[in-house]
Amino acid sequence: MADVFKIAVLPGDGIGREVIPQAVRVLEAIEDEISGFELETHLFNCGGEYYRKHRREWPEEAESFSKEEADAILLGAVGAVDSSGEEVRLPDNNLAGYNIVIGLRMELELYANVRPVRLIPGVPVPVKKESESIDMIMIRENTEGLYAPIRGKLSRGRRIDLATDVRVITRFASERIARYAFERAIARKGAPKDGVKRVTCVDKSNLLAGCQLFRQVFTEVSQTYEGIHADFAYVDSFVQWLVRKPEYYDVIVAPNEFGDIITDLGAALQGGLGMAPAGNIGSDKAMFEPVHGSAPAHYGKNSANPVAAILSGAMMLEWLGEKNKSKSCLLASETVHKAIEEVLKDGKIRTSDLCWGEWAGIKPSSTKVMTDKIISRIKEIVSER
Ligand code: IPM
Ligand code: MN
Repeated sequence: MADVFKIAVLPGDGIGREVIPQAVRVLEAIEDEISGFELETHLFNCGGEYYRKHRREWPEEAESFSKEEADAILLGAVGAVDSSGEEVRLPDNNLAGYNIVIGLRMELELYANVRPVRLIPGVPVPVKKESESIDMIMIRENTEGLYAPIRGKLSRGRRIDLATDVRVITRFASERIARYAFERAIARKGAPKDGVKRVTCVDKSNLLAGCQLFRQVFTEVSQTYEGIHADFAYVDSFVQWLVRKPEYYDVIVAPNEFGDIITDLGAALQGGLGMAPAGNIGSDKAMFEPVHGSAPAHYGKNSANPVAAILSGAMMLEWLGEKNKSKSCLLASETVHKAIEEVLKDGKIRTSDLCWGEWAGIKPSSTKVMTDKIISRIKEIVSER
């Protein structure tokens, strides 16, 4: 009997509403082509736009289904603007929808935010590199750091005069994320430069107490993993090395807020935010989402690159496959990756963000047409097997 997985689908706002339906089409296509698993998708509106209409960020059923019933969550992006172009905000001034993203990460303890950075041939990049030289995963601690909800504002007179965000680093979370990083390194083939399995701890331990603890715990954990090179970098120097010698990196681990920043640079190295997927992984649950935001200015044009969302769906299949020992889910994930690679290599069908450099002369395809091409490639790959 086929494994059935329940998936909460939360497109959210802006281009999330364009790319997530396309990712779902790809998931439905691959489910049709490869037997052995079924995805039961449950779609819910949520985010800033939902908040504008209903004064809450998501319906109750969306919240309870995502937190209690779903095997995995596929999220688009949150953040909306109103008719006058103002960002939709909550009474506490945070962007409406953020409690969904951050809330799910915290409440479901999705402690590892995994962001692969891989350059696929056929993708133009701002820093020219051979595609084989960029293949790493960035792992961002996802439950504490500057994102710990310990913050406040002090008003004196009629204006806010002081604001604090407390950065929390614990031994527990540092150890958990370091172990996760080393385990991922075991399963990989090492850095493109030298084939060495390497985990780089990115921090600011020359100054910050929390980073000193993070690095110390990382070092202790590294001593229990023989044959993996434990590597260290301060975050400021790391960003320049990342651009200069990306081939050196294999697995990177960083505290939450540094992870947020370096993964946008990672996205640029692999061709932009339209190419960058992510998975928020816990010990039992997981949520997958493209690294990009809701990009309200681009919404409604059917022009956003769906690849980051589709790759996030493929990461979801891989995670489900590994967790449930489902060979068909793993094969489905591989097949989606292969189809994307072949479509990009072929070159002619691509969204506008990928039409520059060598591909400047190509007429951009829409979000939907690019997805159609990926789906037809999936069908061809399966029928050729
Ligand atoms: C990300 C985003 C989020 C973050 C926002 C939407 C809260 O930038 O996933 O990288 O800061 O983590
Ligand atoms: Mn970010």
